[in-house]
Amino acid sequence: MNTLLPSSRIKIILVSLLILLAGASFVYNQILINKIMEQERKSVELWAKAFEFNVDPVHLEVSTTLNRVADMLSMYPDVPDSLARMIRSAEAAKFTEDFVTQEIITPPDLFNIPVIVMDESGFVVHYRFIEDEEGTDMEAIAESFAEYHEPITITFGEENQMQNQYVYYGESPTVRYLRFFPYVQFGILALLLGVGYITYKSITRSEQSNLWVGMTKEAAHQLGTPLSSIYGWLQLLKDKNQDDEENLSIAYEIENDVTRLKGIAERFNKIGSQPELKMVHPEPIIDEVISYMKRRLPSLGKSIDVRKNIKTDMKAQINPELFQWAVENLIKNSMDAIKETVADAYVAITVDKEGNQMVIDVEDSGSGIDRKYLKEVFKPGYSTKKRGWGLGLSLTKRIIEEYHKGKIFVYSTELNKGTVIRITLPI
Ligand SMILES: Nc1ncnc2c1ncn2[C@@H]1O[C@H](COP(=O)(O)OP(=O)(O)OP(=O)(O)O)[C@@H](O)[C@H]1O
Ligand SMILES: [Mg+2]
Repeated sequence: MNTLLPSSRIKIILVSLLILLAGASFVYNQILINKIMEQERKSVELWAKAFEFNVDPVHLEVSTTLNRVADMLSMYPDVPDSLARMIRSAEAAKFTEDFVTQEIITPPDLFNIPVIVMDESGFVVHYRFIEDEEGTDMEAIAESFAEYHEPITITFGEENQMQNQYVYYGESPTVRYLRFFPYVQFGILALLLGVGYITYKSITRSEQSNLWVGMTKEAAHQLGTPLSSIYGWLQLLKDKNQDDEENLSIAYEIENDVTRLKGIAERFNKIGSQPELKMVHPEPIIDEVISYMKRRLPSLGKSIDVRKNIKTDMKAQINPELFQWAVENLIKNSMDAIKETVADAYVAITVDKEGNQMVIDVEDSGSGIDRKYLKEVFKPGYSTKKRGWGLGLSLTKRIIEEYHKGKIFVYSTELNKGTVIRITLPI
């Protein structure tokens, strides 16, 4: 018994590959983000220093005092102009520092990390790269920043007037895009693998299908020639034994079996080409299968009650030969699923109407199908029988779904209680 079929193994391999790639991408991305965030923290620290320097009242005071002194000095005629100039140029040096902070450290296109500066009482002193619309709650934003970045403390003022302010900062757009990136990558990968898998499946399916068609046509062809010659020989036998009752009845029996063989060859031929559908009621076809299967029962050594329950006289588009083959496969499986020893064993075929569909149920009191294998039973090659090919149900599925545009599925099943396989046909 094949428990892990190739298709599920391929699925497992593909999914593991996807998880592995996604995991690697997440880890790599995280390393990258951490590195960038380290850089960003350094930038914010630098910016905070510049900010600290610029707003420090001591610096502002010094600057104003110096300018005032220079102004006052220039009012005294006995003080040389050069002194005032010297003082002004000293103040201009301060301007150079401003230039450094404004042009190098804090230009918006270089440093675009959202920042909120708060004083000790929680008052927002300054903010950058945060849209200030009505209802923007700066404190809440600062709190959310604090969750992943420790705020930077800046200090200014003289000893007794010293005060602290806190720089809360968020993430730059680069980091935000990077965080998003693994999801995009994962999505694209999943899509690619999905498309690859579907393509692979459809290729194998069409390969299988071509194999089916080729094999069945060949089988029909191979059977055809000896069958017609057997018919010829039979005719000769009958002619020669016109007066011999016993031999004649044997000849007729052989003819019956040969006719059945011819029917089988016919089926093989049909499955290889587009079969013709006729609007018919399935009862006569079912009757034929039941009587044939009942004849086989004694050789199986089982006593099984084969019942039929026709609840509608509605007709459906059916190809009699192929439909007969399908029902035969289902009843055969049902009979196989019943153990010799059980009492009141039965197989029941019900035909009913549901909406605009014909419903045909094949029910048995057999072993049931393990839930694990519900999907497998319709795949070619899956069999739990010693001498099974695992072709019956996949052939039946093909007959019902491809040639009759219907559906076939396990309607219900319970271990050691029985199974109902349902066919629905459009009308
Ligand atoms: N009515 C049923 N009750 C229990 N198990 C079933 C029933 N029908 C099918 N199965 C399970 O599904 C498997 C596949 O069935 P399928 O008819 O395709 O192949 P098979 O009967 O094993 O071989 P064969 O090619 O001769 O038909 C069976 O081996 C059996 O385990
Ligand atoms: Mg079978």
